[in-house]
Amino acid sequence: MATATQDIQLCDDGGLKHFLTIEGLNKQRLTEILDTAESFVGVNNKATKKVPLLRGKTVANLFFENSTRTRTTFELAAKRLSADVLNINVSVSAASKGETLLDTLRNLQAMQCDMFVVRHSASGAAHFIASHVEPHVSVINAGDGQHSHPTQAMLDMFAIRRNKSDFAKLKVVIVGDILHSRVARSQIHALNILGTREIVAVGPKTLLPENISELGVTVEHNLEKALPDTDVVIGLRLQKERMRSALLSTEDEYFRSYGLTEDRIKLAKPDAIVMHPGPTNRGVEIEASVADGPQSIILEQVTGGIATRMAIMSIAMGNIEKSLSGSRTDSGLVN
Ligand code: CP
Repeated sequence: MATATQDIQLCDDGGLKHFLTIEGLNKQRLTEILDTAESFVGVNNKATKKVPLLRGKTVANLFFENSTRTRTTFELAAKRLSADVLNINVSVSAASKGETLLDTLRNLQAMQCDMFVVRHSASGAAHFIASHVEPHVSVINAGDGQHSHPTQAMLDMFAIRRNKSDFAKLKVVIVGDILHSRVARSQIHALNILGTREIVAVGPKTLLPENISELGVTVEHNLEKALPDTDVVIGLRLQKERMRSALLSTEDEYFRSYGLTEDRIKLAKPDAIVMHPGPTNRGVEIEASVADGPQSIILEQVTGGIATRMAIMSIAMGNIEKSLSGSRTDSGLVN
C-alpha cells in the first residue's frame, strides 16, 4: 500500500513531481532517471556545460544541515540546466531569529521560486514542505534525518549501472552504520526495485535496525564471511552525531572488525567496485589505500551526482509543467 509520502510525490499520470523517497517507485521510474542522467553525461563533459531545460526557473537550495557533495552538485546541476539558483545560508537567515520553516518557505515562494532542494535533520521535513507548496513548485529531498536520501541512492545506482550494467547478476554488500543511515535505506529500496540478485547488510548488531531483513536483505555480522562473490562493496560512515548512546566500544575496534581494508577487499571478486557516499572517515570505516585505490569509484559517484541530479530536476519540473498545462515542447518543458 502506498504511503502519504509516496502518493504526494507523483502526478496523476504517475510521473515524479517531487522526489522525496525511493519507496513505492517502480523500476520504470528509476530507469527513466538513470537513462536521463546518462543523456546528461555528455553535457557535463563539454566545454560549455549548459542546456536550457530549466531556463527561467528558480531553484532554492535550503540546507538546514551541513553538506559538501549534495549541496554543491545540486547547485551545479541547476546551473547546468540554466536555472537561477539561490543558496539559502540557513545559519545567517531569519530562521536564526525564530522564523518557522513554513514562513521561510512562503517567503521564498513569494519570490517565485519553482523548486526547493531541502536537507533537514528531521525525518519527514521534505514531505512536510511538499505538502505545503503551491502546485507549480517541486520539492527534492536532499536528505531528511534518518529517513531517506533518494538522490544519493540514485547517483549510486547510476555509478553501479555504469560499471556493472545488470543488477540481476550482482551481489552487493553494504557495511557499516545502517541503523542511522538514510543513504543505506534508500540504496536498499533502489537495489531491490532494480532487481539486484543479492543484498547483504553487514555490521555489528548495535548498528543494524532490528527489522532490517524486512527490507529485503540478508543480514551478516561477519564482514569476511559476507565478501566472497561480491561485485559491489558499499561502506558507510559511522554517524556519531546520530548515536544517542554508546553503540560501539572504540573506533579502533570497529575498524578491526568492519573497516574496508585492502586484505578484506581481496575477498570480494577481483573486479569488485568499492563505493562510499562520503564523507569518508579514513582509518575508521575505510583504509586510505582502499578509498584511493584502483577499485574505488568514490569520486566517480560524486561526478555522476551532477548528471543524476540534473535528470531528477528536469524530470520533476517537466512533469509539473505538463500536468499544469497539458502541452509540452520538444525539450520536455512547457513554452
Ligand atoms: N553523501 C552526502 O550526502 O554527502 P554530503 O553530506 O557532503 O552532502
